[in-house]
Amino acid sequence: MQPLPGFRDFLPHECATRNYIFTKWREVARRYGLVEWEGPVLEATELYRKKSGDEIVGQLFNFVDKGEREVSLRPELTPTLARVVAAHEREFKKPIKWFSIGQFFRYEKQQRGRLREHFQLNCDIIGETDFSADVELIALCIDILRAFGLTEKDFVVRISDREFWTDFLRQQNFPAEQWDAVLQAIDKSEREPREKSAEKLGPLADPIFSILDDGGQSEKLDRLVDGLGARDLAQYVDIDVRIVRGLAYYTGTVFEVFDRAGKLRAIAGGGRYDNLIGNLSDGSVSQPALGFAMGDVVLGELIKETSTAREKMGNAIAAANKIDIYIVIAKEERRSDALAQIQHLRDRGYRVDYPLTVTKVAKQFQTAEDLGAGLALLYGDEWPQVKIKELATREESRAPHDRLLDKVSKFFNVSAPH
Ligand code: HAM
Repeated sequence: MQPLPGFRDFLPHECATRNYIFTKWREVARRYGLVEWEGPVLEATELYRKKSGDEIVGQLFNFVDKGEREVSLRPELTPTLARVVAAHEREFKKPIKWFSIGQFFRYEKQQRGRLREHFQLNCDIIGETDFSADVELIALCIDILRAFGLTEKDFVVRISDREFWTDFLRQQNFPAEQWDAVLQAIDKSEREPREKSAEKLGPLADPIFSILDDGGQSEKLDRLVDGLGARDLAQYVDIDVRIVRGLAYYTGTVFEVFDRAGKLRAIAGGGRYDNLIGNLSDGSVSQPALGFAMGDVVLGELIKETSTAREKMGNAIAAANKIDIYIVIAKEERRSDALAQIQHLRDRGYRVDYPLTVTKVAKQFQTAEDLGAGLALLYGDEWPQVKIKELATREESRAPHDRLLDKVSKFFNVSAPH
């Protein structure tokens, strides 16, 4: 039996890749002062009908539960965040700066970079209208990718502003109830034949294409780039008004991250959603907000395609999977002495492995090498001394069984395996 289409098994190697990604996500989010939180994976379908927009609602994994409730596996975190903030906003000082790592489900057609489940890092700032928060959030997104060893040669943050387009639609006296459809058509225009977009844009096709063709001018976006320039990060962003974002709730700055080569789907996307929390609470709690989510699928592909990032990941995974000490049991009479030591070492936090059953000594040493152990401790004829072998240098020494810890801690202080 195979997993369902679009779902993955995480065998140890894939699990290690996933954990590497999570560790970096967590590390950099914390560097920016974000605090971790989490929501439920199942929500009332109504939450997404109200808040995410038609595209995502069409992709829901939804069902009626045994209590006759219409429920959905979460396709994204932002509506949950808005719900939680609307309920608990008073308990937290503003701005609220939160991050979360979790799994999301969308019934999409499976293709490169798109599955039916994926993991996202979500980073959000709530309660801050100032532009400095927009700059901070984009800087965070860039720094997360830099932490993987990716550079401006590997990825670009395409930044845009929904207000640029809503101001334009206002000037054109275009009816507000049709704005969403126009924004969606602009969002899709890059991926669709021009005639199809023209049809959707109707009378606005000519003026919109002429803006798209010459790139669009926005003083606000210039300021955003300047803000990033002050942190020496401007080379990571391009102003690109073609970015509108598919989700309905964005109100201001929006951005998406792509590989420079343009081969992959979006790595991350986000923006300002100043009205979502207010709308969800029928106006009783109103909080400006902005955030982004980065997925593990496309990021994983980009890391694998980029030699520096791939090597960095390989080294980190090898180091994370290593054990510290392998206990070689050369004489079965010594097994219980060895087990006492193993317990002792594990209690002290060392990663220790040993053969569960009678095994040839050469094979035990091979296993020690395979597991990346720094030290092998041999329990055999030398008893009550134990033979110590440093596996990298093949240097050997001996120590009395009850004084082994001194030797071990000295070795690991010097070569600091973790
Ligand atoms: P999104 O653009 O829908 O935004 O998703 C964010 C990222 O999740 C995408 O750039 C992509 O890397 C990944 N992703 C989405 N769908 C899939 C899929 N089917 N398979 C693999 N990866 C996928 C949001 O979800 C917003 N809620 C982000 C946000 C947070 N806005 C404000 N705060």
